[in-house]
Amino acid sequence: MPTDNAASRVLGTGFYVPPKVVTNDDLSERMDTSDEWIRQRSGIEERRFSGPEDTPAAMAEKASRAAIADAGLEPGDIDTILVASLSPEHFFPGTACFLQDRLGLPGTACMDIRNQCTGLLYSLATADAFVRTEQSRHVLVVGTEVHSTGLDFSNEGRDVSVLFGDGAAALIIGPSSDPTRGFLGHCLHADGRGAKHLWVPSPGSSIFPFRAPPDMFEDRSVYPQMNGRAVFKHACTHVPAVIKETLEKTGYGLDDIDLLVPHQANMRINEMIAKQLGFPAEKVVHNIQRYGNTTAASIGIALHEAKADGRISEGSLVMLAAFGSGFTWAASLMRF
Ligand SMILES: CC(C)(COP(=O)(O)OP(=O)(O)OC[C@H]1O[C@@H](n2cnc3c(N)ncnc32)[C@H](O)[C@@H]1OP(=O)(O)O)[C@@H](O)C(=O)NCCC(=O)NCCS
Repeated sequence: MPTDNAASRVLGTGFYVPPKVVTNDDLSERMDTSDEWIRQRSGIEERRFSGPEDTPAAMAEKASRAAIADAGLEPGDIDTILVASLSPEHFFPGTACFLQDRLGLPGTACMDIRNQCTGLLYSLATADAFVRTEQSRHVLVVGTEVHSTGLDFSNEGRDVSVLFGDGAAALIIGPSSDPTRGFLGHCLHADGRGAKHLWVPSPGSSIFPFRAPPDMFEDRSVYPQMNGRAVFKHACTHVPAVIKETLEKTGYGLDDIDLLVPHQANMRINEMIAKQLGFPAEKVVHNIQRYGNTTAASIGIALHEAKADGRISEGSLVMLAAFGSGFTWAASLMRF
């Protein structure tokens, strides 16, 4: 039996992707790869790369203004800003502070959540808790990533660099007066034993005597390193499990879900997750073809597009699920 106790809900959504489209053929001019290899292994056809004006905070601002308008609010109604990003504006302070300045909201609480591909779900769970406990009233949650300035476009980095794209998504979380509408439950997990299966070694404050070692370009430690097979296995094992756990926690069944909005890392992974669950393929949202993996932004962009094209409407039961570097994995169930 469902045990609905929603205290907060999504009041508005928005997203922004930079205008520059980079196709698989464009990448094959820079490294030894092909449209066929990329499509077959990941489902990706193209992604967006930002220019100098589209920094993580600049894209976050555009996505945020769209989400605030979608919620029928003004920027001044926001009292808390949570930003998820693995590609922050700077080493410090957090991107949320840069975004707050752009939005002209001095005094609002700002927090960065460093959880890579599950960053948006960890942020939504935090926002839900803040609203539930009346710590906050209107929380702006943003996922924003500029991957393109940090990827290795040589042959050595081709397994990673073909997968990622740039973009930002924003959601406004606020009070729900109806316990059946809004966030019904979240399950968050991590296993640091997998930290080095998907990571960027340099720069880092663990490195002595200087956190940005001069040879980090030569030894390629400045670029993301990925054990693709371990990540694939982690996703296919933990995502079905965390979806089932969230259903059990909330008292819902698989058949009740109207739409599954998974993290967009690889279409093959999401197909495998649906197959393992016995969940209908047509109820799974995919947009990785157009954007690649935008990490903390991916679920927000997919959710917004599913709303815009009518796949999500008032009353829809929507499961969000993500996995990624950390390792981390998470799911959230909500009724729109
Ligand atoms: C990365 C991934 C697509 C690779 O697929 P795979 O089937 O495991 O491929 P392999 O690693 O076995 O590589 C197969 C071959 O393709 C080559 N290859 C790797 N990247 C390539 C590219 N971009 N273009 C062409 N060939 C490539 C490899 O060098 C290897 O060649 P070899 O057989 O001569 O050694 C897959 O492991 C994956 O999707 N993992 C999860 C990644 C992910 O989701 N990351 C983000 C998580 S948030």
